[in-house]
Amino acid sequence: MAFVEVASISDLKPGSMIKVRHAQCEILLAFVDGAYYALNNRCPHMGGSLADGVLDGHAVTCPRHGSSFDVRTGQVLQDPKLLFIKMKVADAMSLPVRLAGEKILVDTE
Ligand code: FES
Repeated sequence: MAFVEVASISDLKPGSMIKVRHAQCEILLAFVDGAYYALNNRCPHMGGSLADGVLDGHAVTCPRHGSSFDVRTGQVLQDPKLLFIKMKVADAMSLPVRLAGEKILVDTE
């Protein structure tokens, strides 16, 4: 495990998400119901930027084809649709989060 600082708690309002970067890793960071969550920002379907989608409660919806994932676990809530074709997608990669004072740390490995 290698926790690295990626943001400050002042960077996120309740119910919001932001995109942060550490080395080659792009991370979606969300603050929902008093807890911080992190996902690999690349949608497992075709690489859309999840942080550019919509966060509604614990569900983040990819802006490209509408897959949605639970930010707490990365679990798929809705598979993508391309026109009328329904597809299957893997879960998003959830990353462990830890607080150190005002700092938000994520394990990117
Ligand atoms: S790239 Fe995210 S749903 Fe297709």
